[in-house]
Amino acid sequence: MKVFLATGNKKKIDEISKILDGSNIEILSINDGIEIPEVIEDGNTFEENSKKKALEIAKFTNMITIADDSGLCVEALNNEPGVYSARYSGENATDAENNKKLVENLKNVKNRKAKFVTVMTLGKPNGESYSFRGEVQGEIIDISRGKDGFGYDPHFYVEEYDKTFAEMPEIKNKISHRAKALNALKKGINEILNIG
Ligand code: IMP
Repeated sequence: MKVFLATGNKKKIDEISKILDGSNIEILSINDGIEIPEVIEDGNTFEENSKKKALEIAKFTNMITIADDSGLCVEALNNEPGVYSARYSGENATDAENNKKLVENLKNVKNRKAKFVTVMTLGKPNGESYSFRGEVQGEIIDISRGKDGFGYDPHFYVEEYDKTFAEMPEIKNKISHRAKALNALKKGINEILNIG
């Protein structure tokens, strides 16, 4: 069965294709020359955004479509930046600018609890959709550590490993919010598509 992956991010295409390797699902993406319109992510939740993207692109391509939305939620900041993670310090913000704002907003704040969240949605051209959530807990540290990863990784510390996500890319790929959401999707997908 062919499923379209609605992302322009080649790293995500690779990662998701690998996880679904060995299943009955063949992933198609922009790498196969299929162009897709931009979807405005104006929802208040990760669920709303990933569902909107999956359903709009499913309708456009007339294919079953997977889309995702992710971000960082910090407990002491009322779960901000949340759906605004990519543009926390403004449109077209760099990772460095977003991290600077995060650390500034946590100045003198003791509670450093945070989580990364991903919601993956499988949407059908007929309007049906199924969402899967993955979360990973950590703490925000003031001084960045590590060179790998992207986004907030150098400030996202996981006590169990005594490392930030930017210091442990291989472990990150196994325990991350994205890995968990994808594995949940992988478990559910055959049943949803009535195959396997
Ligand atoms: P997206 O929905 O996966 O594109 O993620 C939106 C934003 O959330 C990114 O631009 C990052 O700022 C942040 N983010 C999501 N996942 C991660 C991660 O694994 N590490 C660090 N930052 C992330």
